[in-house]
Amino acid sequence: MFETLVGDGVVLKPLEPWHAGEFAEHMSRAGDHIRPWVGPTFVTDTVDGARATLQRYATATANDGARIYGLWNDGTLVGGVMFVAFDPMWGNCEVGCWLEPGAVGAGFITRSVELLMEWAFLERGMSRVEWRCRTDNDRSVAVARRLEMRSEGVLRSSWVYDGNRYDKEVFSILRTEWMSTRPVIAQ
Ligand SMILES: CC(C)(COP(=O)(O)OP(=O)(O)OC[C@H]1O[C@@H](n2cnc3c(N)ncnc32)[C@H](O)[C@@H]1OP(=O)(O)O)[C@@H](O)C(=O)NCCC(=O)NCCS
Repeated sequence: MFETLVGDGVVLKPLEPWHAGEFAEHMSRAGDHIRPWVGPTFVTDTVDGARATLQRYATATANDGARIYGLWNDGTLVGGVMFVAFDPMWGNCEVGCWLEPGAVGAGFITRSVELLMEWAFLERGMSRVEWRCRTDNDRSVAVARRLEMRSEGVLRSSWVYDGNRYDKEVFSILRTEWMSTRPVIAQ
């Protein structure tokens, strides 16, 4: 129910507070891999912490704001995608993602973000989808480029991790650009 197939045995569906136990288990596999690249409050060590993260998203979703979706591969939560920010009044949103190491390299994220963009542009009439990542996050930069997002510039020394400061790059794709790459569907 409420799930979309994104690959062989891989589904994308809303990740909600009742998944806190699964999310915490997944974080024990993903934490070290994602910690340098994602917001500090996202990586949790406990079920309560996992529930708090998912509850923050659930509350935001109830207010038509941020949203989070999990990726299950053969029934195991292996990562996900989210609208880090979602502002229908201004038509702007930002998409983010993460995977545990065993799920990297199979195209799950590119396919999932395509689905989020389709929903944002077509169903919600958004004008702009943004992607922000550390400039040295090669795999994340590759996703943005694969999705034909354009680099808009670098926020110098704006990301802090483990006492060091890093540059962050902003990518985006506009509704007009995204529509022009879609195949025309005959009426
Ligand atoms: C960023 C991250 C989610 C990207 O994961 P990813 O697996 O590289 O991205 P995708 O799921 O889109 O997969 C792309 C890879 O699958 C391959 N692939 C296979 N089938 C594919 C398909 N149908 N479509 C697209 N790519 C496919 C691609 O060739 C690519 O592999 P390659 O880079 O070795 O050539 C992952 O590296 C990660 O979790 N990093 C840590 C957390 C993080 O950085 N989050 C983002 C913060 S901004």
